Amino acid sequence: MGRNPVIAIDGPAGAGKSTLARLLAERLGFVYVNTGAMYRAVALLWKETGEEPEKIARQLDFEMRGDRVFVGERDVTELLYTPEISDLSSRVSTRPGVRRALVDLQRAQREKYPVVMEGRDIGTVVFPDAEVKFYITASSRERARRRKLQFNDPRPLEVIEREIKIRDERDSTREDSPLRRAPDAVFIDTTDLSIEEVLKLMEKFAKEKLKSIIN
Ligand code: DC
Repeated sequence: MGRNPVIAIDGPAGAGKSTLARLLAERLGFVYVNTGAMYRAVALLWKETGEEPEKIARQLDFEMRGDRVFVGERDVTELLYTPEISDLSSRVSTRPGVRRALVDLQRAQREKYPVVMEGRDIGTVVFPDAEVKFYITASSRERARRRKLQFNDPRPLEVIEREIKIRDERDSTREDSPLRRAPDAVFIDTTDLSIEEVLKLMEKFAKEKLKSIIN
């Protein structure tokens, strides 16, 4: 039996990866995995318990049910998407021990199902052999605008944009697995495109590539 196919989606914060990955997975009948939520879950437990992040990552009992995130039986979705956890997750994600544990967890998903996996290093480090790779981006102003809408963030757009740029900088300059476009990833700038327009492009490309596997 062959291996399960993987669609890898990488790109900076707020580019629309999560929405696109979830919808693409639905359309293809794949399982959607949001790896940013794993780093966020480690950050949350770190904040709550003060335990070593490496240990938390190794013991993480993480599960996605649709777009809800569970740690054990606890639904932590709302707690993960705050400015504080965004910042803490970007910090814990620079630690090699945390990354190693979460990458193991990510690779184990493919053993079980065909996956659409989204993050920063999926096409470069986690699955360099992914059948399909996308790199999704948008201007920092547009990404800030989308975050503001998505999280009902009352702060001025400039403040949110500044935060996004700080996270971009940290995510792309860290030593271990920085955010980079894989040379074989399809690059899509979504600044002036609707979700549906981007999704159509991705679906068409993925189906074409996966033809021999799906049919
Ligand atoms: O995608 P997100 O914004 O929810 O991710 C939160 C943080 O986790 C982000 O600042 C960088 C980190 N991350 C990572 O380092 N590698 C991944 N594969 C996914 C996220």
